[in-house]
Amino acid sequence: MKSKLYPLRKTVKRLETLVDTSLIFSSILDLEELLNTVLRKAEEVMQAEASSVFLIDEKTNELYFITARGEKGKEAKEIRVPMGKGIVGWVAERGYSLLVPDVKKDKRWFKGVDKKTKFVTRSIMAVPLIAKGRIIGVAEVLNKKGKRKFDKTDLELFEALGNQIAIAIENASLYRQLDELFLSSIRAIVEAVDAKDPYTRGHSGRVEEYSLMIGEALNLERDELKDLSVSAILHDVGKIGVPDKILGKPGRLNEAEFEYMKRHPEFGAAIIEPIARLRDLSPNILHHHEQYDGHGYPEGLSSEKIPLYARIIGIADSFDAITTDRPYRKRSSMGKALTEVERGSGSQFDPKLVRAFVKVFRQQKLTKAKK
Ligand SMILES: [Fe+2]
Repeated sequence: MKSKLYPLRKTVKRLETLVDTSLIFSSILDLEELLNTVLRKAEEVMQAEASSVFLIDEKTNELYFITARGEKGKEAKEIRVPMGKGIVGWVAERGYSLLVPDVKKDKRWFKGVDKKTKFVTRSIMAVPLIAKGRIIGVAEVLNKKGKRKFDKTDLELFEALGNQIAIAIENASLYRQLDELFLSSIRAIVEAVDAKDPYTRGHSGRVEEYSLMIGEALNLERDELKDLSVSAILHDVGKIGVPDKILGKPGRLNEAEFEYMKRHPEFGAAIIEPIARLRDLSPNILHHHEQYDGHGYPEGLSSEKIPLYARIIGIADSFDAITTDRPYRKRSSMGKALTEVERGSGSQFDPKLVRAFVKVFRQQKLTKAKK
């Protein structure tokens, strides 16, 4: 009875894996995390010791690991396999799956990877990753645990997973291209705004750099750093709405001019609000001139009521203003600017963020000096 039920249970388990992974594919946006999760599932259901995904580097005609799981995964990531070499290279070149129950008996077996990683491969199952009719890489599972061997049903399941993996990689690359295009368009627009005033050329890029230093010191996640980065690049985009004669005035602004200038955060928020991808970031732009003690503008918000990214950008923005020439004063050194930022801790700036910035800035300076 038990033996008759075994294949049925196995099939159910496989179906479950496919359903589970298709949910994973639609819910995880980060490619590395996605591949890791899917391979872990594949290892579990196929009782494999390790697994990896290779991509083809078309420039060098080699395969490189994009994910390598298992006890020697870290070491494996450094290795590149020439196209056509070994089982993986064979699969990548021909586009066929391969089931090798005993690698020692297979002439295509390439010992190079094991030699470098000290992993002992016994059996391999490898499938090509094909996107839009093009072979883009190979997925493999290694060493079936226990006495069983990888079989045809394992291969069928792994081929189905391979199709999903290929689509996920293709989507991630399209998404990345689109995102890069989007970011470079934003940078181009902002550089044009910065260039309206000769004193602010390159300002937004530097504010982005300093903001990211603080964000990294706070251990923000990758997605959060991206939002911070876009908010920082765009923080002064509202200056588009400020007349050139005010922006480029060679001297201090009078009260009316300053009142006008103070509206640039509102203009900036209004510019990005209609853009769906940016809407959530508009409070960071609207509030980048608020002060920790409530004496800033436009709303006089204080402490934690000011969005975190706006507080970060506020420090980065002031630091860059102090360290660059302005029409009415010369720039200060980085050291003096840091002291000035520290002086504003608790009044203009959030003390926690000032501490993080000063610490990370000094550390970076030290590492740069050591190089
Ligand atoms: Fe500003």
